[in-house]
Amino acid sequence: MRTDVVRLGRLSGKRSGAMMHFLSSMQADRHIADADILVDIAHVLMLDKQKILDRSVTKKLLPALLQMYDEGVPEEAFDDRFEDIHAGIESFLIADAGPEIGGRLHIGRSRNDEVATCIRIRLREEILKQMAAILKIRTVLIALADRHKDSVMPGFTHLQHAQPTTLAHHLLAYEQSFSRDFDRLRDAYTRVNLSPLGAAAFASTGYPVNRDYTASLLGFDGLVTNTMDAVATRDFALETLADIAILMANISRLCEELIVWSTSFVRFVSLDDAFCSTSSIMPQKKNPDIAEIMRAKSGSVFGALTGALVTVKGIPMSYNRDLQELTPHVWRGMHDAKESLQLLGEMLASAEFDTARMKEEAAKGFSTATELADSLARAYDIPFRTAHNIVGRAVQKGDLSLATLEKAAKDLDCGISFRKLGLTQAKINRVLDPEYSISLRKAPGAPAPVAIKGAIHDRKKQLAADTNLVEQKLTKTAKSRTELIAKARRLVA
Ligand code: ARG
Repeated sequence: MRTDVVRLGRLSGKRSGAMMHFLSSMQADRHIADADILVDIAHVLMLDKQKILDRSVTKKLLPALLQMYDEGVPEEAFDDRFEDIHAGIESFLIADAGPEIGGRLHIGRSRNDEVATCIRIRLREEILKQMAAILKIRTVLIALADRHKDSVMPGFTHLQHAQPTTLAHHLLAYEQSFSRDFDRLRDAYTRVNLSPLGAAAFASTGYPVNRDYTASLLGFDGLVTNTMDAVATRDFALETLADIAILMANISRLCEELIVWSTSFVRFVSLDDAFCSTSSIMPQKKNPDIAEIMRAKSGSVFGALTGALVTVKGIPMSYNRDLQELTPHVWRGMHDAKESLQLLGEMLASAEFDTARMKEEAAKGFSTATELADSLARAYDIPFRTAHNIVGRAVQKGDLSLATLEKAAKDLDCGISFRKLGLTQAKINRVLDPEYSISLRKAPGAPAPVAIKGAIHDRKKQLAADTNLVEQKLTKTAKSRTELIAKARRLVA
């Protein structure tokens, strides 16, 4: 049985199983074990290049690490008796390759810079997956919008019928917010993908380490320069979690709408049965459980962000073990968001929108009253506020007929007679038609089908550019990994 090599010198005292379990980060370290092997290999290559390690040692260390790369980190290295996977892997190397060889792996570094590097490697991978998942949602939303440019529906403010719009306009609003979620993660990536390696415990090392070399071997875009900051900061993870939390808030809003829209009093959408559950007692029930769980997952992710923020807020420079408790929040948040995005895309793509029901509701609640007020103001050069009040008073009286408008104007003492001005019921009816009202709204981003056509064109272009960006970053990180391993293999060949 391999022993924890870190503890042998300074400390004695027997630890109970519960104590070791409490202290160990093993469960969360499963997320970073593969990254740790890459970090070990890059570190050894750097020590070799800098002639800190003798080539004969390199040639014995690397095969052991490459074996773990090929076969995976052995299960035993995840045992709680090691404080973390870094100690587990080192203990393994020392037991298997001997202390003369294995004992040299940790020259010029600390678990503090090691773990920060591992988290960043894993997190950048997660960010790219998240960005790719957002691209899929955006693709679904744009495709649906393309199909529903003419699907008239009521638009709401305060969840009250407000003005008519189209389903395309509504869906593109979500596409925009997911696009910003994408942008936020893209920006976070630039701060995540920096290398803390070479910071050691916090004060770097007297060995002539080459920080730029390990950074480039590991596919980083640069360094976290100050070595105290490098081991102490987790703001890159907080920032990513905050971005994910905002993303989940957007997901939750969309889920809330799908839930409301699928009620029997709204009936705008029917979710595919696969995304719904039934009741154990009420045989008729079809409940939108997946959307509900997704709405709740946003709460879990906000909890993860809050947990992470509170973890760091009170800790002094530089590394403190508290930081170990922060990392699981990050993985949990990323996991929930990724799962949600995946299912949300499928749920949207398979949903059936009842456009006839939407249209039926579009004209309700005097939803075109705004257009009527605008038209009166335009046609007869009346101040908008006067027109707004007249139409409002007519709504209060119960209808928007010519007679009622005339009465409303009289009531309000506006000195206006619409009849004398030439207003007819036919003109009013035309203006009250939802499709007419929508067709007038042609400004960029507005709901008129012609404006939506332009928006879809623009959004598709942006989607293509964003897809490219993710592919570029994926290619870069994959290439650096392949080259790192190839370099290590060449050295031992
Ligand atoms: N498991 C630790 C963590 O996740 C790794 C760093 C340990 N460093 C230390 N000084 N004990 O933060």
